[in-house]
Amino acid sequence: MRSLVTGGAGFIGSHLVERLLADGEHVTVLDDLSTGRSRNLDHLIGRADVELRRGSVTDPAAVRQAMDGADRVYHLAAAVGVRLIVDSPLSSMRTNIHGTEMVLEAAHQSGAEVLLASTSEVYGKNTSDLLHEDADRVLGSPLVARWSYSAAKGLDEALAHAYWNELSLPVTIVRLFNTVGPRQSDQYGMVLPRLVGQALRGEALTVYGDGRQTRCFSYVSDVVEAMVALAGEPGAHGSAYNLGGAEEISMLDLARRILAVTGSPSPVDLVPYNLAYGPGFEDMRRRVPDNSRAHALIGYRPSTPLDTVIARVAEHLLDPRSAPSAAVT
Ligand SMILES: NC(=O)c1ccc[n+]([C@@H]2O[C@H](COP(=O)([O-])OP(=O)(O)OC[C@H]3O[C@@H](n4cnc5c(N)ncnc54)[C@H](O)[C@@H]3O)[C@@H](O)[C@H]2O)c1
Repeated sequence: MRSLVTGGAGFIGSHLVERLLADGEHVTVLDDLSTGRSRNLDHLIGRADVELRRGSVTDPAAVRQAMDGADRVYHLAAAVGVRLIVDSPLSSMRTNIHGTEMVLEAAHQSGAEVLLASTSEVYGKNTSDLLHEDADRVLGSPLVARWSYSAAKGLDEALAHAYWNELSLPVTIVRLFNTVGPRQSDQYGMVLPRLVGQALRGEALTVYGDGRQTRCFSYVSDVVEAMVALAGEPGAHGSAYNLGGAEEISMLDLARRILAVTGSPSPVDLVPYNLAYGPGFEDMRRRVPDNSRAHALIGYRPSTPLDTVIARVAEHLLDPRSAPSAAVT
């Protein structure tokens, strides 16, 4: 099996690449290193079963070349993170809309299957008890930059579904809910690595808003395992699957758990959203996945406890090998 992983130098992508190689696959990575890091793949340089290509999913020639000979493409390349989307909405939308269209079209031309990484952000402000895949989307104004990520990913899903419906492209969509673990950057608004980093440096943990907003975090290895299982399941084609965590936790409680696990004496500071992201910023009060569809098809059950996740993220941040380098050419 030959797979292409777009965004393979990123947080989730690099774990996925390792998982596919462990299965004996040949893997090509296409990544522009905008938020990905070459050091995530340094340990794979020189292997015969992996090819690392630096290029953009918005470049049709780069996508066609990377797709050459691939049986399957995992499309993860995207502008990700609230901070990045709010600061650079135009380039984010170009990547997240045009890039996905390029990948779907190239897969259609070359006959490759597709697994598309979407997001729980598509549900927007829907705060239902359990968000099922058929739940309504509740979005704010399209003029609020924050919603452009949700709008773009929703359009990606619609495009993918149309390729499946009209052109029989085998495509499966996964909606990831706050996936966390080692290698996740703290630079673009990801809460868990940011708070763990603050705790380790002895700085105040900055929790936005009143801190009572809740999320369900899932560990990257649990999610990657489910992505691979779904990609290999023909019965999954044409549908979307939630992949989220099991434990709902408020951001204040998350900060307290991080302090307990790391043994940090740091205080916790509440920071108004408008100071963090500018005036008019909107956030979700809660977001809880219904994972039953993925459980029924592939037995998905997120198993890594949150304290273990926090400990592994802390261990990674303290590891001197997390230092920068350059490997993808
Ligand atoms: N981490 C999460 O909690 C989460 C939640 C929901 C969805 N997702 C989705 O999972 C996927 C991976 O996200 P991640 O958390 O690993 O983020 P990440 O930023 O670490 O990974 C994204 C990767 O895509 C690359 N990339 C960006 N623009 C590109 C372009 N134009 N061409 C080629 N490569 C490009 C980046 O360099 C990076 O390596 C994304 O599609 C994201 O929307 C992630």
